Amino acid sequence: MQFRFPTFLLGLGAASTAFAQVTELYQEGPFALRVKGQASNSSIDGYLSWYNLEGLPAPTFISYTAGSYPIVDPKYEWYFNYTGFVQYRGNEVGILLANPGANTTTPSPYHGQVINLEYQTNSNVAIALLGSGGYMDIGFDGDEKAFNAGQFDDSTYVPGEDPEYSEDLAYYHWAICWQFSGKYKPTLSWVTSGPAHNPTCELVDLLRVEL
Ligand SMILES: *[C@@H]1O[C@H](CO)[C@@H](O)[C@H](O)[C@H]1NC(C)=O
Ligand SMILES: *[C@@H]1O[C@H](CO)[C@@H](O)[C@H](O)[C@H]1NC(C)=O
Ligand SMILES: *[C@@H]1O[C@H](CO)[C@@H](O)[C@H](O)[C@H]1NC(C)=O
Repeated sequence: MQFRFPTFLLGLGAASTAFAQVTELYQEGPFALRVKGQASNSSIDGYLSWYNLEGLPAPTFISYTAGSYPIVDPKYEWYFNYTGFVQYRGNEVGILLANPGANTTTPSPYHGQVINLEYQTNSNVAIALLGSGGYMDIGFDGDEKAFNAGQFDDSTYVPGEDPEYSEDLAYYHWAICWQFSGKYKPTLSWVTSGPAHNPTCELVDLLRVEL
């Protein structure tokens, strides 16, 4: 079994602060994030932007707006940070962030608000948030589609046998769903497994697009 987890990536936990201080991260961006419905009858085609509730700098919420072109506004600008140490199928694995001036990843020395998923106890639909303190491992494949790098697949587990670590578990479970996330809006979401519990969800491709 191989221990090369992307989860060491960021010094978001206090324990890895020393490591974080010596690690130079590569950064790509800014770019836009386009969402395009996967179903042929889906009307979803537009871009992601972020917003805050008044007086509350974190978490930062992510909503979808229909449109053919990315809007020129810092709230539509996204960045990809990676160490260069972890690849899945040849693609760099790192983190997706916005609001690069924000200091909300303290105590780490890094700036910006990182995308992570917030799970709900009564649904298989998670909400994507920025600046909640956690992060998820993300890469972009050859078609510029964002995937989540999973490390283990619990559907293959056997009692008493350590599961295999895999660099091939790329998941594309992004969705746009009406959610209470700051406000009740079409929100970037993630369907963990099976059909979405929230009937408003539509599965989408999340694509990196040049600004
Ligand atoms: C698309 O078609 C499927 C199958 O007919 C249907 O279940 C679904 O509700 C439709 N979605 C939209 C967004 O119209
Ligand atoms: C973030 O922290 C740095 C260093 O303490 C400070 O110079 C900068 O003004 C802070 N930025 C914001 C947006 O608060
Ligand atoms: C992302 O990378 C840039 C460039 O190395 C760095 O300044 C920034 O602090 C990093 N932010 C995070 C959250 O990793």
